[in-house]
Amino acid sequence: MLTLDLSKLNGFLPQDYLSSREDALREAARMLAEHNGPGGDFTGWVTLPRDYDKEEFARIQAAAKRIQQQSQVLVVIGIGGSYLGARAVIELLGSPNYNLKQKNTPDILFAGNGLSTDALLETISLIGDRDFSVNVISKSGTTTEPAVAFRIFKQMLEEKYGKEGARERIYATTDKARGALKGLADQEGYEEFVVPDDVGGRYSVLTAVGLLPIAVAGIDIEALMDGAAQAMEALSAPGADNPAWQYAAARHALYESGKKVELLACYEPCFRFFAEWWKQLYGESEGKEGKGLFPASVEYTADLHSMGQYIQEGERLMLETVVQFAPKGEFLIPNDPENVDGLNFLSGKPLSFVAEQAMRAVILAHVDGGVPNVRIQMPALSETVTGYLIYFFEYVCGLSGYLLKVNPFNQPGVEAYKNNMYALLGKPGYEAQKAELEKRL
Ligand code: PA5
Repeated sequence: MLTLDLSKLNGFLPQDYLSSREDALREAARMLAEHNGPGGDFTGWVTLPRDYDKEEFARIQAAAKRIQQQSQVLVVIGIGGSYLGARAVIELLGSPNYNLKQKNTPDILFAGNGLSTDALLETISLIGDRDFSVNVISKSGTTTEPAVAFRIFKQMLEEKYGKEGARERIYATTDKARGALKGLADQEGYEEFVVPDDVGGRYSVLTAVGLLPIAVAGIDIEALMDGAAQAMEALSAPGADNPAWQYAAARHALYESGKKVELLACYEPCFRFFAEWWKQLYGESEGKEGKGLFPASVEYTADLHSMGQYIQEGERLMLETVVQFAPKGEFLIPNDPENVDGLNFLSGKPLSFVAEQAMRAVILAHVDGGVPNVRIQMPALSETVTGYLIYFFEYVCGLSGYLLKVNPFNQPGVEAYKNNMYALLGKPGYEAQKAELEKRL
């Protein structure tokens, strides 16, 4: 399913970069499989494609059908790992223009992933007087952005449909036992879905967190899980021919050789939010203790006309990972008898041929400019392919974190801003901190 081309690392890495890391990779793979490395309590995602809760999965499918019947809009409230996966898959498979398309599934609007008043007002006006439902997603149940948004949309639902009617339209995805959202959902009688204890936010796209909104968008979540299960099976085999081992070793070796940034590039505009999901996955997993490749993303060929100059000639900080999908359709470039633009040498050629040559040209130019290149080739986009790619990146991320000797499953750095924000907002208990912060501002 996935072909990894590392041939454009020649000259950037010593011959033995993989063999010299084989022992460490074997240990990393063992810790992931046995759930006993650093952060092992959060490695439930490793076997999720096989061991997911089948009863809940059926409830997700039933709830998705109900939402499709009851509403023209689903508002998905969540931030970080509680929203990026769903948006990534919906845009990748349903298009970034999903909401503009003619379809028999609801529009999906994302809220609670920021604190912009303008964005909130726009979401409300986009709903207009249409029927809507809400899927509020928060593992902790206490994250400020989604909690504030939920307050607002819950009130809107209650005003429009009454308390009873609102209850029928609110779906809560949260911890199975703890947290403010769990308490509220129990009290109000919302349909609940669980973020498993052993799966952290950024690894949760294949749980109810991602699956419910994805299913509402009409995407086949069984095929998505099947793709992930195929990857789980393929990547669990230890050894130097495992592509996850190869990619993790290459990233680590390049990092140790002085590279500081990994650019994820794709030639498909629908990949943009998948790259956002990937950035969170790698940024939160590796970026700690003063270590880690900074994950960045570019959309080609558009960004060749904005970021291309820096990538070619700026600081030699980066490696580039290109994800390529086989095209689904074909479009032939028309002939122009007058040939004013001089492009008749391309007449009758598929647009994908031009894209392929552009990609090959870029790879060679960047390699010549000192940017090592990793190429991931996938079949045409489908649910199965997407599930496979999700699991591949998750698994490589787990291996990479262990190679880097960090806990890839915590995110202690996220708390710093939250504590300051609570203090500045006047949350009870933070009075001393507030006074100290106000003095510094
Ligand atoms: O990956 C993570 O753990 C984070 O991005 C969380 O998903 C994010 O902070 C939202 O947290 P919660 O789901 O508890 O509201």
